[in-house]
Amino acid sequence: MEISVTKEKGLEVEADVLLVPVMQEQDNFCKCTKEFYEYANSQMDFCGKSNEIACVQAFNKIKPKNVMFVGLGEKEEYNLNKLRVAISKACQKIADMKKVSTVAVALKKLPDEPSLAAQTVAEGALIGTYKFDKYKTEKKERFDKLVLISSQDVQPAVKKAQVVCDAVNMTRDLVNEPAELITPAKLASIATSLKGIETKVYGQKEAKKMGMGAFLAVGQGSRHEQQFIHMTYKPKGKARAKVALVGKGITFDSGGLDIKPAASMLEMKGDMAGAACVISVMKALTKLKPNVEVHGIVAACENMPASRSYKPGDVLTAMNGKTIEVDNTDAEGRLTLADALCFAENLEPDAIIDIATLTGACCVALGKVASGLLGNDDELIIGLQASAEEAGEYLWEMPMYEEYFEDLKSDIADFKNSGSRYGGTSAAALFLKKFIKTTPWAHLDIAGTSIISKPLRELPKGVTGVGVRTLINYICNL
Ligand code: BES
Ligand code: MN
Ligand code: ZN
Repeated sequence: MEISVTKEKGLEVEADVLLVPVMQEQDNFCKCTKEFYEYANSQMDFCGKSNEIACVQAFNKIKPKNVMFVGLGEKEEYNLNKLRVAISKACQKIADMKKVSTVAVALKKLPDEPSLAAQTVAEGALIGTYKFDKYKTEKKERFDKLVLISSQDVQPAVKKAQVVCDAVNMTRDLVNEPAELITPAKLASIATSLKGIETKVYGQKEAKKMGMGAFLAVGQGSRHEQQFIHMTYKPKGKARAKVALVGKGITFDSGGLDIKPAASMLEMKGDMAGAACVISVMKALTKLKPNVEVHGIVAACENMPASRSYKPGDVLTAMNGKTIEVDNTDAEGRLTLADALCFAENLEPDAIIDIATLTGACCVALGKVASGLLGNDDELIIGLQASAEEAGEYLWEMPMYEEYFEDLKSDIADFKNSGSRYGGTSAAALFLKKFIKTTPWAHLDIAGTSIISKPLRELPKGVTGVGVRTLINYICNL
């Protein structure tokens, strides 16, 4: 989508739809929209309730062909996250209309700082109208020009929204693609092709040399070689901080020998959503250029059953020397993350953040509404929650009580990779914690939020690209 900014008046903008966000009981309309608002209000009962939509034909009274109103709800409850949702809903509606190629959005009456309003509107449009139609032989026409009407210089804010949403939508594309296409080697080649990022890829042999026995075991049943990917973004000037991002990169999770039932396996090409998020964030950083050194780490492999697969009962040795008894080959994500976290800590960052489609239990606990957040450092947790709030993403902190680890005690090794079904998200996080010495660390469990089967806030159903906006905000706010 092409986004431009104009200082023209709404009634003069060449557009198929003039989109006007309005609050309940709003009374300050500009001349061009007042008449149409009164019509929508009296004839269509439109009064600006949250996400309420009314579309009025303009019949050549003004340049735009239609005027669409979208409700922002009550003034007291209003915030930018509500604006993003309303714009997304309206743009989805417009995307379904025929013969619309240009949409103009009226920003002047919004109470927000103009740049923030522009960024949020652009985000709503770009996130809301995402479609993965690469494999459709018949593609639907959608509007491809967005014009923001603002008297301020909001172009930089629009640029930022475009970079951020490109990253969100890149993550969605990567998760939507079939696992036969997005192999560990493919993830590595995408990471390597990022301009402005230094990428090192380690194959099986090198991973063995580094002692990554847990990561290597998970991928040993696949015909695709494991790839350990290390991306580095370094700012031009002196870095304010150094952060490591670790993404779970299981390109397909069949469960391994503890094979999943068919219904649970269906979405498992998306078990690399964390990795996709980290790679996309790295790409965005080359354009946003924050003064922070960021390392992106992905231990990519495929979890498959085969004669050479790792087995329940195997004992693995991770990079930090800890031994793990394999209780269940389907608890593979934490094994790959174990070595990735050790590698990350060796880089001596100020903070490590991992993001992973780790436990079905997280989806049971929080539904598809919020991602799980766990960690060992309050400041990092609070920082991430603030960044999520700003992005309109929901993170909910879950407990790290040591008692949850009881289930992971092993008779023959240091611990097991899984135990009881209860408290599974906390147990998994406590497992990960065994591979962190002292570095502030946080873990985002996105098993529930990376794919949704019905619309949620600004997100249409499907792959969400969750985490991208939160992590970009976190890094850029440091
Ligand atoms: N990738 C799954 C978790 C998952 C479930 C992601 C549903 C997205 C949607 C993970 O590898 C897994 O299989 N976890 C097991 C752990 C169990 C064996 C301890 C689970 O959640 O059942
Ligand atoms: Mn699994
Ligand atoms: Zn998995």
